[in-house]
Amino acid sequence: MSTPRPAAVIILAAGEGTRMKSDTPKVLHRIGGRSLVGHAIAAAREVGAEHLSVVVRHKRELVAPHVTEIDPAALIADQDEVKGTGRATECGLDVLPADLTGTVLVTMGDVPLLTGETLVALTREHESTGAAVTVVTSQLDDALSYGRIVRDADGSVERIVEFKDATEEEKAITEINSGIYAFDVAVLREALAQVTTDNAQGEKYLTDVLGIARAAGRRVSAHLLEDLWQTEGINDRVQLARLGAELNRRMCEKWMREGVTIVDPASTWIDVDATFGRDVTILPGTQILGPSVVGARAVIGPEVTLEATEVGEDAEVRRAEAHHAVIGAGASVGPYSYLRPGTELGAGGKIGGFVETKNAKIGDGAKVPHLTYCGDAVIGEGANIGAGTIFANYDGVTKGQTVVGAQSFVGSQSVLVAPVSIADGAYVAAGSTITGEVGPGQLAVARGKQRNIDHWVARRRAGTKTDEAARAAGYADAGSTTQGTTDTKDNA
Ligand code: UD1
Ligand code: CA
Repeated sequence: MSTPRPAAVIILAAGEGTRMKSDTPKVLHRIGGRSLVGHAIAAAREVGAEHLSVVVRHKRELVAPHVTEIDPAALIADQDEVKGTGRATECGLDVLPADLTGTVLVTMGDVPLLTGETLVALTREHESTGAAVTVVTSQLDDALSYGRIVRDADGSVERIVEFKDATEEEKAITEINSGIYAFDVAVLREALAQVTTDNAQGEKYLTDVLGIARAAGRRVSAHLLEDLWQTEGINDRVQLARLGAELNRRMCEKWMREGVTIVDPASTWIDVDATFGRDVTILPGTQILGPSVVGARAVIGPEVTLEATEVGEDAEVRRAEAHHAVIGAGASVGPYSYLRPGTELGAGGKIGGFVETKNAKIGDGAKVPHLTYCGDAVIGEGANIGAGTIFANYDGVTKGQTVVGAQSFVGSQSVLVAPVSIADGAYVAAGSTITGEVGPGQLAVARGKQRNIDHWVARRRAGTKTDEAARAAGYADAGSTTQGTTDTKDNA
């Protein structure tokens, strides 16, 4: 069977979301790395509708640009002062072509677990039964304040009654309105024109369309959904966390089924846009955020946060944080590493403990193993950066770049003052402060020479345990030690 395509999807996202108690509009709150309205848009796009309209009003200045950013083709519909889901739907229809025919889906901006698959099934059922309206419903033990589905004696859907307008008898109904529907667009337009605001909330209810269509002799049916999570709307932050956790559980399960080992799903957070190759292992306490990509057989964790970061096959990342970074195949990162945007570690390279990198291209097989700040750097293949090296990239006014050539070796505790460049195949002596260029094959030494002062302990620390130890070892004279009075080590 081919996939049915509705003519349009309308997403209602104009409400205020008072119960969130937030300066951020409800539909812009996020779970799984995506806004609530973003989830609604993703599901709508999966059903392949030709037109998508998103109805906005509350904090339009924030919601409309967000919608356009994630889906430039989405039509923004402005709801006027008339309140209610019915009015919102009318406004959503207004921006669609006037001669539109066929099926229009209406969904909510605050029901994030609804899937595209469900919308496809809804559209298929709606079109195959020839109904004018099909509403997605669920059976709940506690139907809370959802609208109730009123069926007639022969079991067909008669109307929806809102909780606030329901009689005690109607409140006892356990089949609820999810707020997701398929409509024949002509019937929808016609019925909406007849909806009034004569109800407990003084709003124009979309739910009234069902009773009106039914009274006009149209067929109204229900699409009962077993998966209750998909119909759950978010009204407050308790539900935000609840649905966020469920979405995460679903993401972990999906990836485990795709061949990813997740040692502790309960402490692993995977955003909806992350992707993984086969045989990846994720250890506890790990968050894979944004559009991160993790290659086959990589080991991530414990306690790693990756945001919009690409990790190559067979790489290993432990106890680290990486943002907008690229970690090459077979590379190793951590423990305790901080990779900031623009970090690109080559294949087989290493970023080790207590190393911070930013805008740093580190070549294949190059190593920055210990205690280093490496900002605005280009490091060639196979280079080695000694422990404690600082790339001094900022002079207080401007940022400069440091280049370290291929196979070069920077001794420990060096400061490379940018802009500066060290050629391929060069050495920098430990403890140097490098301010000028170093050529191929040269050793740069940029620090004070060592000076040994004979009998200093005897003169200045006489009688101490140190003095005793020196006497026992035999006090040295200049020339009697291999070190002498000059720096022989690096200059040899
Ligand atoms: C609505 C349904 C109810 C259903 C429930 C499912 C109506 C009258 N009631 O109630 O039967 O059980 O959803 O979650 O439809 N919105 C607008 N403009 C408005 C009002 C709301 O765009 O003027 C949008 C909101 O942004 C939200 C959605 O419509 O995305 C639902 O609004 P909400 O106020 O939460 O409706 P409920 O009272 O939950
Ligand atoms: Ca709601």
